[in-house]
Amino acid sequence: MKAKKEEILKAHACRRAIKEFKVDRKISDEDFEFILEVGRRSPSSFGWEPWKFVVVQNTELREKLAEPSWGAQKQLASASHFVLLLARKGDEMRVGSDYLKYKSQEIDKLPAEVEEMKVEFFKGFMEKEFDLTDDRKIFDWACKQVYLPFANMMTAAAQIGIDSCPIEGFDRASVEEILANEGVVDTERLGVAAMLAFGYRKEESPFPQSRFPMEEIVEWVK
Ligand SMILES: Cc1cc2nc3c(=O)[nH]c(=O)nc-3n(C[C@H](O)[C@H](O)[C@H](O)COP(=O)(O)O)c2cc1C
Repeated sequence: MKAKKEEILKAHACRRAIKEFKVDRKISDEDFEFILEVGRRSPSSFGWEPWKFVVVQNTELREKLAEPSWGAQKQLASASHFVLLLARKGDEMRVGSDYLKYKSQEIDKLPAEVEEMKVEFFKGFMEKEFDLTDDRKIFDWACKQVYLPFANMMTAAAQIGIDSCPIEGFDRASVEEILANEGVVDTERLGVAAMLAFGYRKEESPFPQSRFPMEEIVEWVK
């Protein structure tokens, strides 16, 4: 157990937001499927899994995405694998949507009475408890769920020696316009929450990983 903990902490300490990857070193299919599988296994509020992962391996599309993605310039050009993490938009996440019905009925196979109870609960959660009352609030809430596979995939990659970079440095409207024009994403239903680049680092970061000390971020109430 001690060795396992050390290994996990080492992976977190070595994980850095990598700007540029070795272009001639690709992640194996097996390793990339492992990373995606960790993403797929991630939890989500009410278990709705309001996400989709689009792996962009097409050079022309990467070049188009680079223009509105200031935070992903070198990553788009050099990553072995480049993933768009999409979150479901308002209409998809509202009670009665085809998506929520499909998830409950076909994927989770909930008995009708259980589905009905869940939907009632979810309605209260949306309308009162969490104030998910307009499209933007619902999309932002779905994005929060997407950050779980986002983080899990980065950590899993780090644990098998694969580097990554989390990316929010892009103009969402422009990126979505490109994806819609290219016919890659139905942007009525899905929006871009974040991006993730994977590969093997070209060079070590010149800066050490910098974090607050534990006592500044943790407070114990006993
Ligand atoms: C949600 C999120 C968005 C980020 N967006 C970008 C980005 O667009 N481009 C980039 O190069 N780094 C980006 N970063 C990387 C952070 O700047 C980096 O994680 C942070 O400075 C800590 O450094 P470290 O990850 O190397 O420890 C992002 C990180 C997170 C978590």
